[in-house]
Amino acid sequence: MKYILLLTALLVVVSSAVKIQIENNVRLEDNSDFQIGTGIYDITGPAAETGMMGYAMPGQVTGGIHFRLRSRAFVFIDSNGNRAVYVSTDSCMIFQAVKIQVVQLLEEHFGPNVYSHENVLLSGIHTHSGPGGYSMYALYGITTLGFYKESFDAICEGIVQSIIRAHNNVKPGKITAEQSKLYDSNINRSPTAYLNNPAEERALYENDVDKNITLIKMVDTNGSPIGALTFFAVHCTSMNNTNHLISGDNKGYASYAWEKLFNNNSLPGTGPFIAAFGQSNEGDVSPNTLGAFCPDGSRCYAPDSTCNGKNEGCKGIGPGKDGDMFESTQIIGNNQFQKALEMWETASIPVQGSVQYRHTWLPMTNITVYPPFTPTAEPATTCRAAMGYSFAAGTTDGPGAFDFTQGDNNTNGNVFWNFISKFIAKPTEDQKQCQAPKPILIDVGLTKPLPWTPDVVPIQIITIGNIVLCAVPGEFTTMSGRRLRNTVYEILNAQGSGIENPIVLVAGLSNTYSGYIATYEEYEVQRYEAASTIFGPHTLGAYQQEFAKLATSIAQNNQVEPGPFPRNMTGHTFFFLPPVVYDEAPGGNFGAIYQDVGTTYAVNDTVTAVFYGANLRNNFMIESTFLSVDLEVSPNQWETLFVDGSWETKIYWKMHVPEIAQSLITVEWTIPPTISAGTYRITHQGYAKPSMFSDKLVPYSGQSSTFTVTA
Ligand SMILES: *[C@@H]1O[C@H](CO)[C@@H](O)[C@H](O)[C@H]1NC(C)=O
Ligand SMILES: *[C@@H]1O[C@H](CO)[C@@H](O)[C@H](O)[C@H]1NC(C)=O
Ligand SMILES: *[C@@H]1O[C@H](CO)[C@@H](O)[C@H](O)[C@H]1NC(C)=O
Ligand SMILES: *[C@@H]1O[C@H](CO)[C@@H](O)[C@H](O)[C@H]1NC(C)=O
Ligand SMILES: *[C@@H]1O[C@H](CO)[C@@H](O)[C@H](O)[C@H]1NC(C)=O
Ligand SMILES: *[C@@H]1O[C@H](CO)[C@@H](O)[C@H](O)[C@H]1NC(C)=O
Ligand SMILES: *[C@@H]1O[C@H](CO)[C@@H](O)[C@H](O)[C@H]1NC(C)=O
Repeated sequence: MKYILLLTALLVVVSSAVKIQIENNVRLEDNSDFQIGTGIYDITGPAAETGMMGYAMPGQVTGGIHFRLRSRAFVFIDSNGNRAVYVSTDSCMIFQAVKIQVVQLLEEHFGPNVYSHENVLLSGIHTHSGPGGYSMYALYGITTLGFYKESFDAICEGIVQSIIRAHNNVKPGKITAEQSKLYDSNINRSPTAYLNNPAEERALYENDVDKNITLIKMVDTNGSPIGALTFFAVHCTSMNNTNHLISGDNKGYASYAWEKLFNNNSLPGTGPFIAAFGQSNEGDVSPNTLGAFCPDGSRCYAPDSTCNGKNEGCKGIGPGKDGDMFESTQIIGNNQFQKALEMWETASIPVQGSVQYRHTWLPMTNITVYPPFTPTAEPATTCRAAMGYSFAAGTTDGPGAFDFTQGDNNTNGNVFWNFISKFIAKPTEDQKQCQAPKPILIDVGLTKPLPWTPDVVPIQIITIGNIVLCAVPGEFTTMSGRRLRNTVYEILNAQGSGIENPIVLVAGLSNTYSGYIATYEEYEVQRYEAASTIFGPHTLGAYQQEFAKLATSIAQNNQVEPGPFPRNMTGHTFFFLPPVVYDEAPGGNFGAIYQDVGTTYAVNDTVTAVFYGANLRNNFMIESTFLSVDLEVSPNQWETLFVDGSWETKIYWKMHVPEIAQSLITVEWTIPPTISAGTYRITHQGYAKPSMFSDKLVPYSGQSSTFTVTA
């Protein structure tokens, strides 16, 4: 009874959400058009001392910024006023707590029934060079020493601000799409697992990764660019696990380069045109296109990616000269950008129809999967979450990622791990059987008092006309993504579905993170991606079955059950990174020069200035900058040409050992050929915490001597 009441209440909510009237907006005459809004906002979190999200490597902590991270939002409204928003963030992934917090903040801002769990899709590009600490579930917080509230807030608030900006600038526009192929930009990092998929199935595809790239082009009624949204499956692991600088990796670079071009060289994050490079089924897809090599230059042993039986030495190498990770990032990013730009010129697939959305929370630990989504004619079931042994071995993009491979008394001094290890559960017989053939390393679903990973996960479909976005709560491998797309495509391509020529896309790492999703056959091989497929061998089958229900509901124009809302993790988190105690500079002169610039430089030179500064995590300088490179345009008139969001600059933070509490801030600027000759200077600004007895922060700034750049 209660259930029926709840369901009725939810249906009322859902159906009223579908009929939102847009104020101050003319109803569009032409059914083929949309109203489109775009917004961008800074989500760069703590740039010092914070564990980075992705490689799960203790000690890989932030120590400066290469370029800033952004949230890019696209609001789509159809001619009946139905709206949905897609957001791509320069983050590793979206955690459940982020989605819940963002929806809560949006409801506070806009009132109920404008933006909800159902019509908001949040996705991460999967950069491995952003600050972590924004997961409330323990597994994804181990190497960041737990949940870092300020890091979480920076991401949530930035996403909300990008949506508010998009909401406030909706205007009538047109959408066209284009599909093409991009080569030399991704390879499969677990090809032996891929090979275990049936030969007939593999024969349908040219490659063991998707080369398909899809562009969604948005222009206003005058044909002027509003935004671009590109999907291509590749890990953002061009920056390797030795990096300490915050970076959007290859997709962040692609966005940066395109926005710079179309916004006429305006400072990063400021122009009206927005280009997002959304993540897709990148689970087994690496940007390190030269392949994986051992320290002696030989190829790794392919089946388990080892060198002489050890995984540590085997690493994937990008296309940059001598494996330079900055150059690799730029090459893989530029490849995506240039191809998308080429597709922008020719885009011709009409995107027409309505904006629709379906969303369900799935109790993923116990879904009964029926044929045809099982490998046999028998029903099967998903399992309580568990991680396999290969998970600890890492991948060729980041070997030996976790520090607990040696057994549970080798904690390498990680205080969070020391603390949490007493809660680890021994797997039960049922669990071992359910997860077989996976050897269980951590039974993350059985840890007390709370599981380490989510057990209820969201699935969602958003359609923008014939563009069909399947939001998946994790990393689908290449073949998993294809199977999911095929399932949804068959349903929506059928006559009477209301969608003509659907273009079905996987929007990866969306709304919640729950590890990888390998196919049943890949699971048998138990490489990293399978070991990290936490809900067992039938995980993909369950997703196909449940996504089929969402697609059918769209085709039949009815609603789906909302499913159980996930547990509230607020208040059940831990954090072991001590706060900044205090900052110190000689004579209290924060911003004073430690090492000045030279006098004359030329194109391709790198100018370096070092300042006495403060801890960069005192204030994240959101929508601002820790540095500027200024040109003297007339006597004592300076124009800022580069900031810490620029590719050409880097800012490094480090403790000034052996001084206690002193920070040295190094600013580097590599002079690009486009620059005019003249007089320049470098500045640094930030906030210091001068007293250990007060939380008060004081702003400071400093500047280098002036220097000359010759033509
Ligand atoms: C790639 O895109 C084409 C359309 O251009 C489509 O027919 C094909 O199914 C796609 N292939 C994959 C593997 O997604
Ligand atoms: C960039 O410059 C071109 C040519 O002057 C102009 O048409 C366009 O509107 C400008 N775009 C922006 C975003 O300022
Ligand atoms: C990371 O890249 C740098 C070059 O940018 C290289 O020197 C280093 O060996 C690489 N490390 C790993 C673990 O791949
Ligand atoms: C799983 O769900 C079935 C019903 O679908 C129920 O009978 C069973 O007890 C559940 N098992 C667990 C472990 O929750
Ligand atoms: C702890 O590690 C040592 C080797 O470093 C090993 O001999 C011992 O058995 C381990 N103890 C437990 C409880 O795992
Ligand atoms: C979760 O709990 C916290 C307090 O414990 C509360 O403030 C918050 O609103 C709750 N969130 C949801 C979505 O219920
Ligand atoms: C700067 O470096 C680029 C790339 O290495 C090179 O093509 C260019 O010729 C260099 N320019 C000058 C002036 O040295």
